[in-house]
Amino acid sequence: MEKYNTEIFGSSLAGSKYVAEKIKALIELNDSKGVSTVLGLATGSTPVIMYKELIRMHKEDGLSFQNVISFNLDEYSPMQPESEDSYWYFMHENLFNHIDIKAENINVPKGTLSDDDVSTYCNDYEAKIDAAGGLDIQILGIGRTGHIGFNEPGSPEESITRQVTLNQITLDDAAPSFGGVENVPTKAITMGVATVLKAKTIYLMAYGSGKSEIVSETLTSDITSQVPATFLQNHNNTIFVLDNEASSLLPT
Ligand code: PGA
Repeated sequence: MEKYNTEIFGSSLAGSKYVAEKIKALIELNDSKGVSTVLGLATGSTPVIMYKELIRMHKEDGLSFQNVISFNLDEYSPMQPESEDSYWYFMHENLFNHIDIKAENINVPKGTLSDDDVSTYCNDYEAKIDAAGGLDIQILGIGRTGHIGFNEPGSPEESITRQVTLNQITLDDAAPSFGGVENVPTKAITMGVATVLKAKTIYLMAYGSGKSEIVSETLTSDITSQVPATFLQNHNNTIFVLDNEASSLLPT
């Protein structure tokens, strides 16, 4: 356990505020140096409270996102951006519409690509992250399969942005918000494991007892592509931000 950096909080709110403070501090430091901040962002229920805190910091504390460039981890495919099920829509509803980030600095993978365009688009997404200076902070949740982004079991460590087929557990978990598993897109465009591991700092948030098993497996099992989150063991600056429930199965 010593090699892992875990921060355990009494509530998801406290953990979310901790991560928001780290983001705020980096944006302010970079602003004072006149350089932009590159954020890798995640969807799902986990980061929502953290985004609420960033919005509060923008509205009440004057935190500006004018010099922030964002790259989202993933998007369903096929998926129209204006669909309420899209991650593009999710990010605008839960964060972008409420802060002063420039529209041209927002990057969410496209869910409308033809098969012919996928590979060029994905390579360009990688290149765009690199051209922005690389991800300063990557925010992650974790799925019950151990996926990070949509890097499902079997995703290799050297994988980069690409189209993937979603795992059945992931489809089942998404079913309620799509009104049935038959409505969930079976594919996605996702940053790869290697894309994520290039981030300078990674905050993986996991809250609630439903995450306790996969958190414990991620932190204690050998590195395996069957649990892609275990590749984070090869990253030297990942902080696991947990609440008491999510950390309950970790060895003490
Ligand atoms: P959740 O999803 O935040 O909705 O639990 C996390 C994930 O699947 O990566």
